[in-house]
Amino acid sequence: MRYNLSEMTDYINDHHPGEPGIAIVLGSGLGDFADGLDDASTIAYRDIPGYPKPTVEGHAGQLVFGRLDEIPLVCAKGRFHFYEGHDFNTVTLPIQLFAHLGVRALIITNAAGSTSRKLPPGTLMAIHGHMDGTFRHGIGDPQPVTGAPFHSPQLLALAHQAAGITKVELAEGVYCWTLGPGYETPEEIKYFSSLGADAVGMSTVPELQAAADLDIPALGISCLTNFAAGISDQPLTHDEVIETADRVKVQFADLLREMVRLAGAELNL
Ligand code: HPA
Repeated sequence: MRYNLSEMTDYINDHHPGEPGIAIVLGSGLGDFADGLDDASTIAYRDIPGYPKPTVEGHAGQLVFGRLDEIPLVCAKGRFHFYEGHDFNTVTLPIQLFAHLGVRALIITNAAGSTSRKLPPGTLMAIHGHMDGTFRHGIGDPQPVTGAPFHSPQLLALAHQAAGITKVELAEGVYCWTLGPGYETPEEIKYFSSLGADAVGMSTVPELQAAADLDIPALGISCLTNFAAGISDQPLTHDEVIETADRVKVQFADLLREMVRLAGAELNL
């Protein structure tokens, strides 16, 4: 799909003059973070001219503008996935819009499955590398891609600093992107894990790729909501994903807030 980004940006600027310096994409079950912003105001995706509508449960469709400690930011509640039938341009539309709005740092959150017993459900994991486990471009073994330009070393350092200040434990690892919408099989998880994946999920990598293309420093942070298929005997359900995200959302929000403060200071926002 092609989109008229100027028209969308004009609409948003008419309703929210002023540049949000930081953008946060809120993943499944993590949308509450946006409720804690000062002077919060919301634009529904359906009101933005030409903007597509997300369809997944647990994902509202809104941009929330507001401030934290005077730092202007925008949160996307609700994202687009390939498994909804969207193309790359649609999946990354919020990121393209952020670039048009002048965003200078991006934090992408998600819910993901853990491929390691050492990272139990409830763990927060900064993404320092990713793998493309979609096989969209061939059947070669996916390889971990770490560091810049996809995973900002500055934002990663700042995430650890924020974790220290808030006393929230933060792991670090490689996120493997799978197409979904079904969860993986135990064999797939064994395979991705053997290639270096610590987490698996159905989002974030296209958004990180778009941010890199657009020169926006970005960092992904996963909430590991469940053991991936075959790692434990428990069956894997969307309910568990939502329940775990709900259990750690307060710590996750603390971490994000502190990251915004630190990034805001660093960027002079
Ligand atoms: N696999 C893929 N995506 C996910 C998972 C998982 O185990 N948990 C949350 N999102």
